[in-house]
Amino acid sequence: MNIKVGWCVAIAALFFCAASTQAKTYVVGFSQSDTAESDWRKANTESFRDAAKALDINLVFRDAGGNTDVQRKQVQELIDLKVDAIALAANDVKGWDEVLLKAKEAKIPVVLADRTIELLPENMNKALYVAWIGSDFRYEGRAAAAWLAQETGGICNIVEITGPPDSAPAIERAKGFREVIALFPAMKIIASKPGNWREEQSKEVMKEFLNDEGSNIRAVFDHNDNMAFGAVDAIEERKDLGLKPGSDILVIGVDAVHHGFELLMQKKLNALVECNPLQGPIVLKVVEEILSGRKVPPVIYMEESVFTQLNAAAAFPSRKY
Ligand code: AHR
Repeated sequence: MNIKVGWCVAIAALFFCAASTQAKTYVVGFSQSDTAESDWRKANTESFRDAAKALDINLVFRDAGGNTDVQRKQVQELIDLKVDAIALAANDVKGWDEVLLKAKEAKIPVVLADRTIELLPENMNKALYVAWIGSDFRYEGRAAAAWLAQETGGICNIVEITGPPDSAPAIERAKGFREVIALFPAMKIIASKPGNWREEQSKEVMKEFLNDEGSNIRAVFDHNDNMAFGAVDAIEERKDLGLKPGSDILVIGVDAVHHGFELLMQKKLNALVECNPLQGPIVLKVVEEILSGRKVPPVIYMEESVFTQLNAAAAFPSRKY
């Protein structure tokens, strides 16, 4: 073989090796429940977009605007697009069996991000999703109640502003909170109503509670920070009652977002149980591992803490959301 042909073959071989070893650009569908609902969800969406760029993943993003019927249709769209994998942050716990069976038939692995789901008994052992990465919502409820018990010596009338009753965090935070206050006979939930993660709705709920219970309220447990912001506004607006959020009425939130820290440092909030939204890097890395044929842990919990007026200022500078 003459030298020229030899060189061409060598260069072609090198190119082939480079091309075949070059990592494939995966196409991953991300089905988000409702970015607009909360500061937490905005940070969550952003973490996926940033992680996809960093990992050179083509992220096909769908946002259901809080409508579970829409979200199911969007997951089906992702299946029809033949994406390599799907990350699902489920708006509600129920109603996922059919579309996840379709994903399985299409051999598209599904990873649950943030929210857990409930499958029908006949589908529970069909491996309709490979892994779940999120927070221990039950622990978050317990941590909120434990902080309140030590703060009030176990004597406290509580109002609760919850997430949507069909969402995993609302279900589990409520359960965990109740498990702990059940240990303290003088800790009572005197009213509970959904604020649906949203500040304005929560403000209206807190106004109702203040009309009905006024100074009988010692604490408000909000299932997320945005609803705590609404509760603080409602308490401050009722100047006639002369109640101060953060002292006369203790205010607890879950998420630990930026504005929550600001209110902690202004002593208008008392405790924030962290629910870490920065799941994008972990979820997309797990997806890459699955697509590369490697095994992954079925459950991965996000690292989280509890922040109060005592440690907020020290933690604030390093907060990422
Ligand atoms: O699933 C996590 C919850 O969803 C967050 O606590 C809340 O802010 C968001 O809406």
